[in-house]
Amino acid sequence: MQVKHGFKIPLMSPVVDQEMLQAAVLALQSEKLVMGESVYKFEEEFARYCGTRHAVSTASGTAALQIALQSMGIEESGEIITTPFSFFATSNAVIHAGAQPRFADLEKDGFNLDPEKVELKLTPKTRAIIPVHLYGHPSRMHELRDLADDKGIRIVEDACQAHGAEYDGRRVGSLGDVGCFSFYTSKNMTVCGDGGMIVTDDEQVADAARSFRDCGRASKYTMSRIGYTSRLNTVNAAIGRVQLRRLDTWNETRRKMASMYRRELDGTAGLELPPGETPGERSVYHLFVVRSNHRDKLATHLEKNGVESAIHYPVPIHLQAPYRARYGYSEGSFPIAESVAGRVLSLPIHPSITEEEVKTVSRLVRDLTYSK
Ligand SMILES: Cc1ncc(COP(=O)(O)O)c(C=O)c1O
Repeated sequence: MQVKHGFKIPLMSPVVDQEMLQAAVLALQSEKLVMGESVYKFEEEFARYCGTRHAVSTASGTAALQIALQSMGIEESGEIITTPFSFFATSNAVIHAGAQPRFADLEKDGFNLDPEKVELKLTPKTRAIIPVHLYGHPSRMHELRDLADDKGIRIVEDACQAHGAEYDGRRVGSLGDVGCFSFYTSKNMTVCGDGGMIVTDDEQVADAARSFRDCGRASKYTMSRIGYTSRLNTVNAAIGRVQLRRLDTWNETRRKMASMYRRELDGTAGLELPPGETPGERSVYHLFVVRSNHRDKLATHLEKNGVESAIHYPVPIHLQAPYRARYGYSEGSFPIAESVAGRVLSLPIHPSITEEEVKTVSRLVRDLTYSK
């Protein structure tokens, strides 16, 4: 069963199949609605999938990031370096955790943090780096890891868009000290509602996270910290278990369709394709994002022809009103992020898109001339 959309070719298309419906009904009929057996099984299976010792589910990806930082004991004055070009939840979570986000600009030809620019932002107060594997493409983890080890700081991967992506043969989430995932309905896998996951090898962090997400509990009616009601519901976990089993197949389809877009669009004048994979990188193409100086014209042309597209993201985080007000950022603070935000367009990609549809979208993209 496919969720219905108003476009002939939708941007994304979350899957809800019969097995997921059955899993949901079974969980509702036979388990505790909160912290039922499915939650623990989903955590175990997700940890195994990522190659980490622990996984702790949460109510959202934002909560996963916030709780991860708090579980690592990041104190209030602690600075966290991250990208200004992400969904704004990444840096909101830093602020919710009581720490201070410090942005560094992007690499010149990609969408992720530039490790050299991160290095320039380090101060004695820096406690962690949050690389975001944006659009499903892994960040340059070797350089970031070296930097973090050198300075004795932690890495929290924002893998909210990158379930199953790999770097040097390891799944993202397992490369930093902690990895965070979102299961929001647009992601490569979802729980058919909001949900998140923290993965880590660090037992202390995992124990603290389990307590934080469950009211700060030490036991049923004693608490060890001021926590949150931020648990993943049982029924969502039951659906997540089925989705996790489909994830690799779905990611393979995404990769195949991304290759087809590349073949179809290669050489189109004035159109930049997403960065390719360097050896050891394996993207899962959460989004297939092109860059054009005529982005808005292109989006309108696609829409007129029944093709949905979107801009991820039109305004970089530092130029959002609350960040301007709080930190005094203005245009020019992070030039690459700002330039990219003005030129990106996400084309339809999802596990149910057909080769014919990719060809149709590509033909429409090629229709326009992209002179400067
Ligand atoms: C990169 C990134 N970070 C964080 C989040 C926050 O996740 P959630 O929406 O589940 O809170 C999202 C997704 O929405 C995201 O794409």
